Amino acid sequence: MPEKHTILVQLDTDALPSTFDRVVAVDAGAQHIFSYGGVTPENVVTLVHGCIFTRGAKDLHRTAIFVGGSDVAAGEAVVAAIRKQLIPAAKLTVSVMLDSNGANSTAAAAVRAAARHVNLDSVESLVLGGTGPVGQRVARLLAKHGGHVRLGSRQLDRAEAVAAKIRQEVPGAKIEAVSVATSSDGPKALQGRELVIAAGAPGVLLLPKKVRDTAKQLRVVIDLNGVPPAGIEGVGLGDRAKDHDGIVGYGAIGVGDTKMKIHKAALVALFEKSDLLLDIDEIYEIALRLP
Ligand SMILES: NC(=O)c1ccc[n+]([C@@H]2O[C@H](COP(=O)([O-])OP(=O)(O)OC[C@H]3O[C@@H](n4cnc5c(N)ncnc54)[C@H](OP(=O)(O)O)[C@@H]3O)[C@@H](O)[C@H]2O)c1
Repeated sequence: MPEKHTILVQLDTDALPSTFDRVVAVDAGAQHIFSYGGVTPENVVTLVHGCIFTRGAKDLHRTAIFVGGSDVAAGEAVVAAIRKQLIPAAKLTVSVMLDSNGANSTAAAAVRAAARHVNLDSVESLVLGGTGPVGQRVARLLAKHGGHVRLGSRQLDRAEAVAAKIRQEVPGAKIEAVSVATSSDGPKALQGRELVIAAGAPGVLLLPKKVRDTAKQLRVVIDLNGVPPAGIEGVGLGDRAKDHDGIVGYGAIGVGDTKMKIHKAALVALFEKSDLLLDIDEIYEIALRLP
């Protein structure tokens, strides 16, 4: 019998499944892609049954599920619902990857970009927009490496809540919540920081140049916002290790190339086994193995 074709089941929490995710799946070599939109924890149940009750256990590594969409929390809820339907005792499982809004692959790419210029085990960093799905993941990865992380939000209590969650999940994490609500907060949050990663909402300026100029230790700035104006003033969308008067800068497109490589490598990895869950830590591990 010839080997069964690979099937990627693309489950999107938005009404229309993302063409971006589908194109990447084709480029990553998935032989068939079944795309569904409007996926919820309730309606995903029969979709999962269709995956696990068709091919026998020995071929289930050739069926995999990708969860995407613009709402990361909705994606997380769908992944949790999928996991409940899998039956590990009977080896009726398929591998699952979560990359709603590109949050996991983007955060992993940003941290890999930073690693080209600073020692992540000891770097003192600031994550702006740290309460969003991308910022939370960036902060978690940086904290796992061991450096001291400041996590910025306009509302200190929101930053505190995220920092507390990361402390719980990453034992020994050195993470401090900071407010970036007022004009005097910026220089304080930046004090002593060598690395800033901005993961603010699209089109929102988080770090004006005059505030950035107060940071004397700053060596690397990475702006993930792809919609003008820039999140870090002066950093260009396509900047890739571009020198800005002694500070290395990356823009959203500059990081995007690595993000695409990570996304594709994770899709390839999905078909190696039938019981993987690829979320932020696993996707970052894959990123670390890329040349
Ligand atoms: N380059 C890529 O390949 C790629 C892929 C995916 C995403 N992205 C980009 O990454 C960035 C982060 O994505 P995300 O989904 O995590 O973002 P998000 O949830 O929309 O926003 C992140 C944080 O920005 C802050 N924020 C929102 N509106 C603001 C405003 N008007 N002024 C100041 N701060 C504001 C909020 O923090 P507080 O309310 O706590 O202050 C929010 O939690 C976005 O710009 C997104 O487009 C890039």
